[in-house]
Amino acid sequence: MPSPELLNFRTAVDAYRAKLKDECAAVRDAQGLEDLHHRYLSRKRGFVTALFEDLKKFEAGEKPVAGQLLNGLKVEVQEALTALGGRLKASAKTKVEIDPTLPGERRPWGAAHPLRIFQREIESIFQEMGFGIEEGPEIETDYYNFEALNFPPMHPARDAWDTLYINDNLLLRTHTSPVQIRVMEKRKPPIRIIIPGKVYRRETPDPTHAAMFFQIEGLVVDKGVTFAHLKGTLEYFLKRLFGDKVQVRFRPSFFPFTEPSAEVDIECLACGRKDPACRVCGGTGWKEILGSGMVDPQVFKNVTIDPEQYSGWAFGLGIDRVAMFAFGIPDIRFFYENDLRFNRQFHLK
Ligand code: FA5
Repeated sequence: MPSPELLNFRTAVDAYRAKLKDECAAVRDAQGLEDLHHRYLSRKRGFVTALFEDLKKFEAGEKPVAGQLLNGLKVEVQEALTALGGRLKASAKTKVEIDPTLPGERRPWGAAHPLRIFQREIESIFQEMGFGIEEGPEIETDYYNFEALNFPPMHPARDAWDTLYINDNLLLRTHTSPVQIRVMEKRKPPIRIIIPGKVYRRETPDPTHAAMFFQIEGLVVDKGVTFAHLKGTLEYFLKRLFGDKVQVRFRPSFFPFTEPSAEVDIECLACGRKDPACRVCGGTGWKEILGSGMVDPQVFKNVTIDPEQYSGWAFGLGIDRVAMFAFGIPDIRFFYENDLRFNRQFHLK
């Protein structure tokens, strides 16, 4: 049986060991290290030194046991203080002298993407004409993207707007037209809005086609609205954007949700209608930039607006496609490469 003195001695050694660990963790600088060294190992008053004095009290049988315990503690203290010294030196090296009078590092200003700049320009022209701005979700239901716009299930017109489906009912919207329905469900005429946003299609990219691009939808609903208003508004808008001399043509077309429908082309500004091998217009001299038409009476019925009382027109314009012409960009994919040498040119203009 160890004597009560030996048991007390062991308890004291363990207590110093635990205390040492906490004290080492609290030291932040060389002065703290020196103080610690002094308290544990100083020849006159160190805790460890004092314990060596106590050894004398033990009888010959227990002295070696107590001595072994104490030597173990002494080695641990020495090792812990050496490691602490090393840690303090390493962290002193990583500390940087700070001169608070030096000017800060100037971070470059971020800037809007060329397509966003162009979108704002289009928005401001329509806002001047009294149009409001609306938005809608990019993940859309089959109902809003197709059915409410008069595309029955399995209708072949859906093929031209094929997209990625999330499930049987949810898809990435293929145009901004579904927002027409969402707005007309909530609001009664008069309505005069534009709807900018991102759209998605199953498309093989080429110089004028992207699989994700931006559109701006326009919708006007009121009493006595005619195709002449549609034509006049779009011609005015395109002249504001491209100048008075730009040539524009309306071409009969088909959309399930407008009747009659027209696509609008502008003269190919890439080749000036002169290059039969032009990669942008394919040598035709014209490039389609938007689809439009008078809102189909069935669409009004789907949102409980009376087509006998109200008429309306709508259009959907490809922002990227129009921006290509406005900025003279030969390939739509440049907009999505995020090459700053390309993007910066639009801020210098
Ligand atoms: C539509 O998306 C109809 N929602 C437009 C519309 C709205 C018609 C309201 C009538 C009334 P379309 O698929 O033609 O139509 O696309 C409209 C415009 O988006 C095109 O004229 C073109 O400028 C642009 N566009 C179409 N596909 C792409 C593509 N893959 N990449 C870039 N722009 C595209």
